[in-house]
Order: sequence, then structure tokens, then C-alpha cells
Amino acid sequence: MILDGKKVSEARLARLKEEIAVSGLTPELATLIVGEDPASQMYVRMKHRACGQVGIRSRGVALPGTSRTQEILAQVDRINRDPNVSGILVQLPLPPHIDTHRVVEAVRPEKDVDGFHPVNLGRLFSGNPVFTPCTPGGIMTLLQEYGVEPEGMRAVVIGRSIEVGRPMAALLLNASATVTICHSRTRDLPSITREADILVAAVGKARFVGPDMVREGAVVVDVGTNHVEGILCGDVDFERVRDVAGAITPVPGGVGPMTIATLMENTFRAARLQSCSGAP
Ligand SMILES: NC(=O)c1ccc[n+]([C@@H]2O[C@H](COP(=O)([O-])OP(=O)(O)OC[C@H]3O[C@@H](n4cnc5c(N)ncnc54)[C@H](OP(=O)(O)O)[C@@H]3O)[C@@H](O)[C@H]2O)c1
Repeated sequence: MILDGKKVSEARLARLKEEIAVSGLTPELATLIVGEDPASQMYVRMKHRACGQVGIRSRGVALPGTSRTQEILAQVDRINRDPNVSGILVQLPLPPHIDTHRVVEAVRPEKDVDGFHPVNLGRLFSGNPVFTPCTPGGIMTLLQEYGVEPEGMRAVVIGRSIEVGRPMAALLLNASATVTICHSRTRDLPSITREADILVAAVGKARFVGPDMVREGAVVVDVGTNHVEGILCGDVDFERVRDVAGAITPVPGGVGPMTIATLMENTFRAARLQSCSGAP
């Protein structure tokens, strides 16, 4: 079975558009990008396009790659205090000379629609999330839409980044899976991944997961977005693994669209929460 993230995300965006239209709210997403990395610029453009599709206003702040941490913090402070802005997204990675932790922690938790602020990560790890990071959040939605129930399953996540691996593991744990996190120092990786009922690959290496690493019938989620000779491919060797897996996400058209749909949902959620609390 192919887990079609494109189809599911389109359906969710259509539903969200209706919800926003009847809500009487005008959610707004502010994106902040530093530097001219073409991939980051493309991701930000896709996010703005999705905003337009569902009726979320969006604005972009673009700073030169030579900006200092203080200058970025000043921009974050400005949009934090703007009552029209419901959600803030700082496009990562920031240039290496920037103190990324300080910037991420400067975003007000109630506007942190990326879910990377320690307050939101803490809520997630305590089993009471408000904003879940968009990629793992989108994966959980996709699993749910296809009736994959993680409870009691053995889940293995390859990758331990703050953006994907760690929050993915927390979400699967919250859903009562038995979770193992693997990384570059893991010994005998295939012996662990072969035990997985749900295998999530967030490695950043093209076609890293082959059929020898996958248990027959497993659900395989491919987070990777790697460009090989101009072609986008995942961390999973899709053509060979699809014969072994019970269900698998394609790249493109799997996790990527779900990430964007979740960002839109988080932004509307932020607008709703702010309207309830009366907070700017
Ligand atoms: N589709 C989407 O919406 C979306 C969103 C975010 C990211 N991505 C993609 O997902 C991939 C992962 O992203 P990320 O931000 O999590 O990347 P990352 O920060 O580079 O993390 C990669 C992880 O893989 C681990 N790893 C590297 N080589 C390994 C090996 N040989 N064996 C086992 N583990 C290994 C690393 O271990 P160490 O910690 O030990 O170094 C690290 O934890 C990238 O391709 C990225 O472009 C896609």
C-alpha cells in the first residue's frame, strides 16, 4: 500500500479552508528566512503558497546571510509583538554563525507553529503537546488516515534531530508504540530496523534503507529529501523496499505535503488559541 501524502494533505487543506472560512478569524503566518539558500527559499515559497490556498495571510521577512544573531532576534521580537501574526516560522537551518538555539527560543511559544521551542518540545515529551513539529506531526496524521494504529507496535526511528527524529519518537511513544531511536553510532542497525513494525527513516542519505533492513509487512515512512543528479529521492530505496513493506510513503508525494498541511493546521490552531485567550 502506498501512503499517499499528497492526496491526504489536499483533503486536509480543503477541510481546513472551510474551517477557516467559517471561523471568523484571520490567521497569519510570518516566515523568517536568513540567507539565499535555494532549497530554503523554495520551502518558504511552498509554505506561502499553501497559506494562500487555505485563506491564511502570510508575510515573509528575508534577511541577508551576513545578518548577526542580534539582528535576527530584533525581527523575531517585532513579529512576536505584532497582534496580527498568529504563527512564526523561522526557516532552518540558519547560517552557521547564528546562534540557532537563541533564535528558536526567542519565538513566543504560543506563536511557535514549528513546535521547536523548548516549551513546546517539553509539552510534547510530557505527553501533552500543543504544537507538534510539522514533519512528525504530519506523519502521525498520515498513519492515522490509513488506519495504522501504533499502539503496541515496535517502532524504530533512524535519526535523532530536534526537527524530526526526537519528536517523531515522542509522538510514537505517546501513541503507545515501543520506540527505539537509532543514529550514526548505533551498532548493527539492520538487526534493529528489521524488528520494526513501523520504520521511520530520517537520515538524510539517499536510498540508505534497503530491503535487507525491513521486516516483511512493515510500515515504512521515508522522511528523506535528497537530490541526486537533479532527482529528488528519499532515504529509502523505494523500488526495492516496496516489495517487502506492507505500506510505504513515496518521495515526493509522501511526508513533504503532510509537513506543509500540518504547518497550516498549527497556524490556524495558534490563531484560535490566541483568540480564546485574548493574548496578542
Ligand atoms: N519531507 C519533509 O518535510 C522533511 C522535513 C525535514 C527534514 N527532511 C529530510 O529528512 C532528512 C533528515 O532530516 P534531519 O533534519 O532530521 O537531518 P539531520 O539533522 O542531518 O539528522 C540526520 C540523522 O541521521 C543520523 N544518521 C546519519 N548517518 C547515519 C547512519 N549511517 N546510520 C544511522 N543514523 C545515521 C544522524 O545521526 P547523528 O545524530 O549521530 O549524527 C542524525 O541523527 C533529510 O533528508 C531532510 O532533508 C524532510
